Amino acid sequence: MQIETITTHPYDDQNPGTSGLRKKVKTFQQPGYLENFVQSIFDSLNDFAGKTLVLGGDGRYFNRAAIQIIIKMAAANGFGELIIGQGGLLSPPAASHLIRKNQAFGGLVLSASHNPGGPDEDFGIKYNVANGGPAPEKYTAAFYQCSQAIDCYKIAAMADIDLDSIGTQQVGDIKITIVDPVTDYAEMMQSIFDFPLLKQSIGSGYIRLCFDAMHAITGPYAKRILEDMLGAKPGSVINAEPLEDFGGHHPDPNLAHAQELAAKMFGPDAPTFGAASDGDGDRNMIMGSHIFVTPSDSLAIMAANAHLIPAYAKGLSGVARSMPTSQAVDRVAAKYAIPCYETPTGWKFFGNLLDAGKITICGEESFGTGSDHVREKDGLWAVLFWLNLIARKRQPVADIVHDHWLKFGRDIYSRHDYEAVSSDIANGIIEHLRSRLPTLAGQAFDEYIIKYADEFSYQDPIDNSISHNQGIRIGFENGSRIVFRLSGTGTVGATLRIYLERFEVDAEKHDQDAQAALADLIDLAEQLSEIKKRTGRTEPTVIT
Ligand code: G1P
Ligand code: ZN
Repeated sequence: MQIETITTHPYDDQNPGTSGLRKKVKTFQQPGYLENFVQSIFDSLNDFAGKTLVLGGDGRYFNRAAIQIIIKMAAANGFGELIIGQGGLLSPPAASHLIRKNQAFGGLVLSASHNPGGPDEDFGIKYNVANGGPAPEKYTAAFYQCSQAIDCYKIAAMADIDLDSIGTQQVGDIKITIVDPVTDYAEMMQSIFDFPLLKQSIGSGYIRLCFDAMHAITGPYAKRILEDMLGAKPGSVINAEPLEDFGGHHPDPNLAHAQELAAKMFGPDAPTFGAASDGDGDRNMIMGSHIFVTPSDSLAIMAANAHLIPAYAKGLSGVARSMPTSQAVDRVAAKYAIPCYETPTGWKFFGNLLDAGKITICGEESFGTGSDHVREKDGLWAVLFWLNLIARKRQPVADIVHDHWLKFGRDIYSRHDYEAVSSDIANGIIEHLRSRLPTLAGQAFDEYIIKYADEFSYQDPIDNSISHNQGIRIGFENGSRIVFRLSGTGTVGATLRIYLERFEVDAEKHDQDAQAALADLIDLAEQLSEIKKRTGRTEPTVIT
């Protein structure tokens, strides 16, 4: 096999964000752009000669073309084997599982998650390490550094690989195996949850479900598991066919974007259980008949009931949440006397805690939940977890949620996003907040007295690495919080996120609408940050 060395020049914007390098497809299609980044990853890794790399993506536009390029580069750089999802498809949790199961050296996951897809939309790539999880910051910093000095990349002169035929072939020195993307993942789910009970509850009609795959990767996974294996009626999985542009929609599972599901769940004769997943299948939205469960509540409820699920029957070693996620899970941890960790936004920060056995379950407010079964958040896992809970408790979702609030109180929560703000204005807002931090503690705004105001830094308890500037936190004496941070996954300008939460113990007040209950805090967030004033916007782009 002939290996070509191609001369190239650095691109200055290849610094990975919250979850890998995410850019417009057109950016990735520039000559050498993808190749530079892949070569930079390979250049900063050591000792992978002859080893295995897992490869797959969320199936969006440019997925197949990118996979062919990466196959040739992996061959030229000396990998010994590639395990690739059929059709180039692998959800991040399925890829994570394949890396772990095959003791691979690592994996490349092509995904822009919940961002829209198509020739004018987004594409992304991230590297996962041997534990199956996203590369920690010391790796991503090295990728960026290499990308800034790169002058050539290596690529093998070989024909395109047929991605659709399952099986193994040897091409020169590299073995290429195409696997079914669902089989191993489905087997793992079967080992975690009580499938016979689920089959019984779904088959008997006790649970009627609707899963919205949003024309994204979970279509084949959900059809196989929910319909074929667990007996949900054909058609229970809607928008099941993965499309390169997600049917023109935003494949983000929230009430704003999964409207078809939301309409069903709040409509007449609503199913018992509703759920949706995102572009690459790692996020989840949980709904019941006439109720939406916030991701922060979902995490807390899962933690509180984990002992009812076969794989977690022995209890949890600990839990973790990203900093902006509500404190609901902290209350569960306190009650069960297990550790609760607060990490920066992004799944990569959970990896060390999971590897060290410090935590079993973790999650983020951004519709992400997962456990130590893989090193990615996992949309369908969360769906099966909830189904298993409903089947075990024989309770509808609304009752499970209300019982939880009764026991622990309710952390009323919402996130307001201002998207595509000019970067200068967004940075100015953060700077403005930062400059106010030293004087805020002790200030009173009606019943809201500021207890602390700081910028979140995290020291990883396992490797002691420190991550600074992870968001601005303003905490109040009454337990309420406002957090401000800039998104690290957007591709147009800057996205400002405001996270709002207020604790309510009084059961009489648990049924309030979140926006109304948070109105004072929303006003206060504007007073402190001047987002509306400085951006000229009158309202957030998305409220979740
Ligand atoms: C967003 C979410 C974050 C999540 C990430 C990847 O990142 O907020 O929780 O881990 O997507 O799915 P952000 O755009 O806020 O940096
Ligand atoms: Zn995702």
